[in-house]
Amino acid sequence: MNSLAQDSQKAAARVGLVSDSITIHGGKPLRGRVEVRGAKNLVTKAMVASLLADTPSTLKGVPEISDVAVVSGLLKAHGVAIDSSAPGVLTLDPSNVVGAHFAEIDAHAGSSRIPILFCGPLLHQLGEAFIPDLGGCRIGDRPIDFHLNALRAFGAVVEKSYQGIHLTAPQKLVGADIELPFPSVGATEQVLLTAVRAEGTTELKNAAIEPEIMDLIAILQKMGAIISVEPNRVIVIEGVETLRGYTHTAIFDRNEAASWAAAALATGGDITVGGATQQELMTFLNVYRKVGGEFDVLEDGIRFWHPGGPLKPVMIETDVHPGFMTDWQQPLIVALTQAEGESVVHETVYENRFGFTEALNEMGANIVVHQSGLASITRRVPRRPLEQAAVITGPTPLHGADVRVPDLRGGFSHLIAALAAEGTSTVSNVGIISRGYELFIDKLRQLGADFELPSAVASDTAR
Ligand code: UD1
Repeated sequence: MNSLAQDSQKAAARVGLVSDSITIHGGKPLRGRVEVRGAKNLVTKAMVASLLADTPSTLKGVPEISDVAVVSGLLKAHGVAIDSSAPGVLTLDPSNVVGAHFAEIDAHAGSSRIPILFCGPLLHQLGEAFIPDLGGCRIGDRPIDFHLNALRAFGAVVEKSYQGIHLTAPQKLVGADIELPFPSVGATEQVLLTAVRAEGTTELKNAAIEPEIMDLIAILQKMGAIISVEPNRVIVIEGVETLRGYTHTAIFDRNEAASWAAAALATGGDITVGGATQQELMTFLNVYRKVGGEFDVLEDGIRFWHPGGPLKPVMIETDVHPGFMTDWQQPLIVALTQAEGESVVHETVYENRFGFTEALNEMGANIVVHQSGLASITRRVPRRPLEQAAVITGPTPLHGADVRVPDLRGGFSHLIAALAAEGTSTVSNVGIISRGYELFIDKLRQLGADFELPSAVASDTAR
């Protein structure tokens, strides 16, 4: 078994998903309502933030996804006591933080990149931290140079070994002036989680300002941190000696919401995403409307539907917030295969995030990936050297095929394509999808999808 399949099975097992493949009979619109809870991209970081406190924290809206199980395992390995008093509510008690062995960190981390964010809090609490070889979705090199340079700027000593990376803080970490080469989400979180307890002031330039980062800042402020978000991507953090636990309800998962919205459009359906709010999705909603999708912002969610008639092609450039998020392009591209004409998606955040389109082509799509991008006078985002472009020509009817999930968002796009396609598809490695989509099998059932799990246990809630 290769490592992707192993990762997928581990991820599936962490959330009790028994089957690692799904057979879908497509061509039927998805209709109904699904609920989204806290954002994967906030919840996992909020859990790490609890390490910085000297009293317990309570996090609400925690989804049942395997990345949460990974972080729980890592926190427990470091002595954090975790309890769940009610569904979606975690209490994290950092009273007895201890070091963990490389092998233990490695065993829990699996394909997740989250251990890198343990560094700052562990350096404050214990004076040292280990990071095993990092995984995450295979969507490019995903280096950690910004993280390590930031940690060095705070005074950490970074030593690489064959097992991973060992960090120490011979003296107390001190605030620093840091400018990121790119507004990286992870590196911004790294700086926040380290600077809040460093001595003195940190000024971070070219910071990421995603809604999940603003929510993390809100959490840190509740804990006693002093953080000001200033104009032009500057964040100033005044370090404090100690932090206390927080109580917080996580911001909703806008990436999951956008994925279900795309599923409604691609299948000609009508899906209400409970828990979604407009502000965090404004850029997505504009594109959704331009493509020909309809939406209605409700009191407790957003309804997305295909109004009938042809879809229109669009040109999209993925970008950092407030731009069109890179995690939205994969599900939306499935709908774009049904638009009349040529759509272009420029990927400016990652260097290799179109691998999933091969499977869509096997299902009948016409998508050509240009590895070094396309020149165009109408570009909004300045060209980055790692840019790729996908040209999607539609409409092309999709037909069933056997496909293999390559990564989290690409995998969800395969599900959508199989649901939209005429005929039967088998999607394997679906465990990867459980890294970021809570109870997706149950949600598909709620929306009327026609599928089978090749096992006696036909539900991911059967546990
Ligand atoms: C986070 C999100 C992911 C989203 C991405 C961009 C989580 C768990 N994941 O990933 O869903 O797609 O933000 O919005 O929150 N880079 C470097 N060196 C570094 C760090 C990053 O070169 O040290 C590069 C990356 O290779 C990539 C770009 O910066 O090209 C953006 O990465 P980053 O914003 O850090 O993404 P993540 O935090 O990993």
